Amino acid sequence: RPNRPQNQSGPSRGQNPHSSLSLSTRRELYERDFPVYKQPVEVGCFSLDSERRFFNDGRQMRYYVEPDRSPNFDLRDGYKDRFIKRDDSVKEKLDHMLRWILANRSKLSARGTTASSCDLDIDFVTWRGHLTKLLTAPYETREGWQLAVTRFRGTLYISEVETEAARRDQENRTERHEEMMYWGYKFEQYTCADTVHGRPDPGGVLNTNEAFCTVVQTRLADHRLLFSGEVDCRDKDPNAPAAPACYIELKTSAEICTPKQRSNFHRFKLLKWWAQSFLPGVPRVVAGFRDEEGVVVALEIFPISKISHLIKNEPNCWKPTVCMNFCSDFLSFVKHIATEDNPSVVYLLSWEPRRDVTSPSTGTRRTASCHTGLWRR
Ligand code: A3P
Ligand code: MG
Ligand code: MG
Repeated sequence: RPNRPQNQSGPSRGQNPHSSLSLSTRRELYERDFPVYKQPVEVGCFSLDSERRFFNDGRQMRYYVEPDRSPNFDLRDGYKDRFIKRDDSVKEKLDHMLRWILANRSKLSARGTTASSCDLDIDFVTWRGHLTKLLTAPYETREGWQLAVTRFRGTLYISEVETEAARRDQENRTERHEEMMYWGYKFEQYTCADTVHGRPDPGGVLNTNEAFCTVVQTRLADHRLLFSGEVDCRDKDPNAPAAPACYIELKTSAEICTPKQRSNFHRFKLLKWWAQSFLPGVPRVVAGFRDEEGVVVALEIFPISKISHLIKNEPNCWKPTVCMNFCSDFLSFVKHIATEDNPSVVYLLSWEPRRDVTSPSTGTRRTASCHTGLWRR
């Protein structure tokens, strides 16, 4: 029986089967005990090469090399002449994850003897980035999202659909903004080597098609999750703990010069950094603080487990428990909404800041054309 969403508002399904169901994102509704979140276990990984081709291995893994003096990295270097940018108008949906599942079927245990051995022992398959957006929704005031859900052999597949507003923003980016999006990748090039004993090569071409992704399994309350996320690099020490504990997330941020900037960094940036890395069990962020000209002036390590202490004295700040409880309730809501087990049926869930999450029960149920081909037996 599907779980009944706890914060459901609006008319119930029993009264009017054609009404919209909704879920509130109001913070105060989620201030309860931290839900069970099992230590994420890495069940595999995959790589995408310079042409965005899938490989069922870790060939794109990189190794963190600690800079030996004060950084002074020029993040603008190479933007004009040594940059190959991934075409973000190509929507890959869940395809790479589905490729990984097809290639690693045997690693995902089948359900008990009564169910078909084709079933995965998993409630949700999605990208880590989609879950990050769910964790931060109670605090997000600018960007909404749309998620498409399909139930297939008992597993719910969640994939993002670009909103109209996001498409417009992407088209209207300023040249400065375009360049600043490069800075984060450039920081990675200054701090990562391709081999365990190698050195970073900041003079090389930077190609954002390349990626190394971890695939992890975990459980949030009673939701069994399988998701994948891009990982920037790992600790090169051979005695480092096993993945995902050896992974390192790299970030850049504007240098902090005033109390107001520090407060904003705690309230907005650290929320995003925490959510992104906490989900797959990546234990630390190495941050490069840069000036207005894109020169990194300081490095700082943020252990993910210390972030909640760092923000404790910040008034009106975010709370990890609110993020995780909202995500858990959202997943219960999805189980409740997406009931028809049929790869041709897609349920759409939409959210705009200061509104409830809604799923019109009719009208946006669409026939799928995107993911089903991969699943034909
Ligand atoms: P920063 O992390 O330093 O901002 P990630 O940190 O997730 O590994 O992403 C690497 C870089 O990609 C980011 O560096 C940023 O430059 C760019 N990037 C990622 N997501 C982005 C987004 N939604 N908008 C703009 N730039 C983004
Ligand atoms: Mg990354
Ligand atoms: Mg990063």
